[in-house]
Amino acid sequence: MNILRGVLVGALALACFGQTPPKKGNSKVTHQPFGKLPDGSAIELYTVSNAKGMQATIMTYGAAVVSLTAPDKAGKYADVVQGMDSVDGYVKGVPYFGAIVGRYGNRIGHAQFTLGGQTYHTPKNDGDNTLHGGNRGFDKHVWTARDLADGVEFTYVSKDGEEGFPGTLTSKVTYHVTPNNELRIEYNATTDKPTVVNLTNHSYFNLAGQGEGDILQHQVTLFADRFTPVDKGLIPTGELKPVKGTPFDFTKATAIGARIGQNDEQLVFGKGYDHNWVLNGSGLKKAAEVYEPKSGRVMEVLTEEPGLQFYTGNFLDGTIKGKGGKVYGHRAAFCMETQHYPDSPNKPSFPTTELKPGQTYKTVTVYRFSAR
Ligand code: GLA
Repeated sequence: MNILRGVLVGALALACFGQTPPKKGNSKVTHQPFGKLPDGSAIELYTVSNAKGMQATIMTYGAAVVSLTAPDKAGKYADVVQGMDSVDGYVKGVPYFGAIVGRYGNRIGHAQFTLGGQTYHTPKNDGDNTLHGGNRGFDKHVWTARDLADGVEFTYVSKDGEEGFPGTLTSKVTYHVTPNNELRIEYNATTDKPTVVNLTNHSYFNLAGQGEGDILQHQVTLFADRFTPVDKGLIPTGELKPVKGTPFDFTKATAIGARIGQNDEQLVFGKGYDHNWVLNGSGLKKAAEVYEPKSGRVMEVLTEEPGLQFYTGNFLDGTIKGKGGKVYGHRAAFCMETQHYPDSPNKPSFPTTELKPGQTYKTVTVYRFSAR
């Protein structure tokens, strides 16, 4: 029965997309319950794995990555993302651990924007600004999951006017684990009225293993010659500033901790790194590479997005006890949120985040793991 189903799904995929179906045995999907929300809705975990043993587990609440394993230089797999042992932990409040953030990832200045001559007001949930889609962003909704032959597709329909945003927005996010130890995330969205969209994944990585100390020794390369400096509310000033000669220059592999404590106004505003880098190149390009010297783990980030928010867990303070009782202290993890630049709806010079009816928002980000 399963074989028949696999053949049918494969043939359908071939017919629809003209692509070779994934090789049998490369990847599989299983599910299990993960607890209930206070309103009684059941939350499920979907685990996608490849033949090598890499596993990504994603839950239907927030379509969030709950765990993700990657090999070290001895070939040993460990969980490299922060998360909670049950859905209760997420409901009690975590800062977007692993979640899909939307409808507008990162900030909208003064919690408002104008589209088609009309001004829209979104919640002020971060000082005077809107952060990560408002009070109840896409991370705090239940997504509908569907098994694909080699991955899982999550769908969330956001109502017209939800969190102040115009248009019914149907978002589909698929997660695949490829034979090459990549977590591949494909984002897709359509709307029935002009709106703004900026979806990302907010995984917190520690390549030494989740909860294994701080990330200051991780060496980071960012393929970006410029970044978007911010004001003290972390809203971009509009300038695309060269990184050369600043602590934001990661064009050569540099330890996160090497300059994070410098007395630099931008670092002070971010309480560390919490900024958007302007990625070099276009198409699906390499955005970042991170190397953790003890385990030898390497993570490469590839994306079709123009920007990358590199955030160094500056707000983590040890008050959250996560998976396996691990305490998430200051800078216990870092995030690499591929995105359009923050506050794009109010910055006409930035690449646009507007989506119109009839258009499809489509973007791909890949997190690739290896060791050396
Ligand atoms: C993003 C933001 C940060 C912070 C984290 C979550 O990275 O830019 O300022 O909100 O999410 O705490």
